[in-house]
Amino acid sequence: MHSSDIPQIMTLSERIYGEGSGWSAKQLESHLAVFPEGQLVAVRPTEDGDRVVGMAASLIILWDDYELTDSWRDFTAAGMFTNHDPERGRTLYGAEVMTDPTERGQGIGSALYRARQRLVERLGLRRIRAGSRLRGYHRVAATMTASEYVDDVIAGLRRDPTLSFQLRRGFTVIGVVGGYLRNDPESLGYAAVIDWEPEIPPVLPSETP
Ligand SMILES: CC(C)(COP(=O)(O)OP(=O)(O)OC[C@H]1O[C@@H](n2cnc3c(N)ncnc32)[C@H](O)[C@@H]1OP(=O)(O)O)[C@@H](O)C(=O)NCCC(=O)NCCS
Repeated sequence: MHSSDIPQIMTLSERIYGEGSGWSAKQLESHLAVFPEGQLVAVRPTEDGDRVVGMAASLIILWDDYELTDSWRDFTAAGMFTNHDPERGRTLYGAEVMTDPTERGQGIGSALYRARQRLVERLGLRRIRAGSRLRGYHRVAATMTASEYVDDVIAGLRRDPTLSFQLRRGFTVIGVVGGYLRNDPESLGYAAVIDWEPEIPPVLPSETP
C-alpha cells in the first residue's frame, strides 16, 4: 500500500461498511507509519491508473497481552495500530480484508490471504489470528446461538460469506465472542476468533539448539 492509495481505500470501505463506518485517512496513515509491510492492496491497472479492488490490513501483537474475548477496538487500538509490537509480538493480527463488491469471487481475497501468509513466513512469525465477523448470523439469530451457527458453518451445513471463505484458506476457529464489533447489523457484534499457523513453524530464539 502507498499513501496515494488512501483516498481509494476510504471510498471502498465506505461503500462496503456504510457512510461513516469506513477507514479514515488518519487511521490509514498511521498503519503506513507503524507497519508499512503489513498493509496490502490489490489493484487492477486501468487506463486512468491503478484501481484499488481490495485490501488487507495487519499488525503484529503479543497474543498474551490480550484476552480471547477482546474487541476489534482493543486488538487494533481503535483502528490506529499504535499497539503494533514487532519487538515482542509473534502473532500477525488481521484487522481487515475486503474486496470491492463488484469484483468478488475472482480470487482477490484469496490472493490477499496468500500474501499475508507469505508475510508471516518471511517475518518468522508464529501465526495469524483475527476476528471473523459472522456476516450471516443475523439471518438465524432468532433460532440459534452464535456458537451453534459457527458449528454449523464448520460442519458445512451453512455457508457464512466471511467465515466459510477463511476456513477454506486453512484457518481454524478457536473461539466465538460477542461484542467484537460495534454497530454491525449483519454479525450483531459476534465473531469467530480464527487462527492459521505456517506448516513449518519458525524456530524461536529460545528453542534454537
Ligand atoms: C471475504 C471477502 C474479502 C472475500 O473476497 P473475494 O475476493 O470475493 O474472495 P475470493 O474470490 O478469493 O473467494 C470467495 C469465495 O466465494 C466464491 N464466490 C464465487 N462467486 C462469488 C461471488 N459472486 N461473490 C463472492 N464470492 C463468490 C469463490 O469461489 C470463493 O469460494 P471458496 O472460498 O470456496 O474458494 C469479501 O467477501 C469481502 O470483502 N467481504 C466484506 C468485507 C468483510 O466482511 N471482510 C471480513 C472482515 S472479518
